[in-house]
Amino acid sequence: MDKFRIEGGRRLEGTLRICGAKNAALPEMAACLLTGETVELRNLPRVRDIETMARLLEHMNVEVARPEGEGESARVRLRAGTISHAEAPYDLVKTMRASVLALGPLVARTGYARVSMPGGCAIGARPIDLHLKALERLGAEIATEHGYVEARAKRLRGARMVFDRITVTGTENVMMAAALADGETVLENAAREPEIPDLARLLVAMGARIEGAGTSSIRITGVPSLRGAAHSVIPDRIAAGTYLVAGAITGGNLLLEAADPNHLDAVIQKLAECGVEVRREPGGLRVGGAGPWKAADAATEEYPGFPTDMQAQYMALMTQAQGTSILTETIFENRFLHASEMMRMGADITIRGNQAVVRGPTPLTGAGVIASDLRASASLVLAGLAAQGTTVVDRAYHIDRGYEKIEEKLRALGARIERISG
Ligand code: EPU
Repeated sequence: MDKFRIEGGRRLEGTLRICGAKNAALPEMAACLLTGETVELRNLPRVRDIETMARLLEHMNVEVARPEGEGESARVRLRAGTISHAEAPYDLVKTMRASVLALGPLVARTGYARVSMPGGCAIGARPIDLHLKALERLGAEIATEHGYVEARAKRLRGARMVFDRITVTGTENVMMAAALADGETVLENAAREPEIPDLARLLVAMGARIEGAGTSSIRITGVPSLRGAAHSVIPDRIAAGTYLVAGAITGGNLLLEAADPNHLDAVIQKLAECGVEVRREPGGLRVGGAGPWKAADAATEEYPGFPTDMQAQYMALMTQAQGTSILTETIFENRFLHASEMMRMGADITIRGNQAVVRGPTPLTGAGVIASDLRASASLVLAGLAAQGTTVVDRAYHIDRGYEKIEEKLRALGARIERISG
């Protein structure tokens, strides 16, 4: 298993380009299952989850012309001519829960889907009951056995529905399934994350009729078939947020090219409360300043609130801020695993239920730490950048799932970080 070794205490400076959003690209790749024509996605991030989704689609007989090129020119072409196995097997689902995004498009296009039930994961139980209830509302028959969900429907029928709670991939599954259903679907209490309107833009380019994506009420009028399309994936707001914190925590000065500030309002506002200056510039988003930073409480919320996917990175920053901050996690029930690792580096954090109380600033010192999930591992890299001495972050594969060449990017900005292959 690969590890990252970081010699902390270096100020980061320079320019880096933010890649396409993993969490937009994943549902957009799954959307190729809705048509027999070619779907081309550009600005694809070169991260492990994208490769896993490509393997999942290949398992179903989708022709995948592998990613080529870098940055904006990184692209994939997908053609789901005939789907031979409408199935997401356990070994792929267990490495990537987003495999559940195949469910909606498969049942809509082929009338059948079999998807392994994702188990719990490091950050929480993460059931898929809302995805299944929504498909039932659309007329699918759902059966679960031997750890698999089977969904069957001769043809899905549009329906009105309200999500019991907001779910991002659940909203995406409904949009994709309803795009090929008979009649109109209205989804209330839909997720509003920027990845949702981005998926809608692709689906509309494929011929779907969707209104309201990006609001909590989405109306989808089913069409008999969809066609191929080309689409450029939005920039990754969480990667951008992570590098904003990297700039702040090292007292550095970074220009993030291609970051979309409109998707980062809550993060930029929170950083401003701490005294971190984030400026829009024609070339992108600049973060700078030398601190000291002020502690500020944060509670995770669905978009447009402060993202749960930034909570761990923000916690790393709070260990270096002056004062006490309370971080409240409202989306996932177990998303503080990074706190105990930061404490091993010298952080002063107390966990009380879904709240973390962080007292700062505490000098961090390098230590061996273990990454438990994607964003936790990013936060430990950030803590390592701020620490004196050597930090070794074990289980680098977590970070490779969602961050494109993080060690190369950080090195180019002046960090001392290397990958140790294990
Ligand atoms: N939930 C249910 N039942 C469901 C679906 C969700 O109870 O059927 C619960 C979840 O357990 C959770 C809450 O609802 O407590 C919200 O979960 P959501 O469904 O919105 O999460 P997701 O769609 O599985 C996506 C991102 C996550 C991100 C969350 C929240 C993708 C591929 N994943 O997950 O990204 O944390 O939304 O914003 O889009 C990451 O990139 O590191 C990551 C974990």
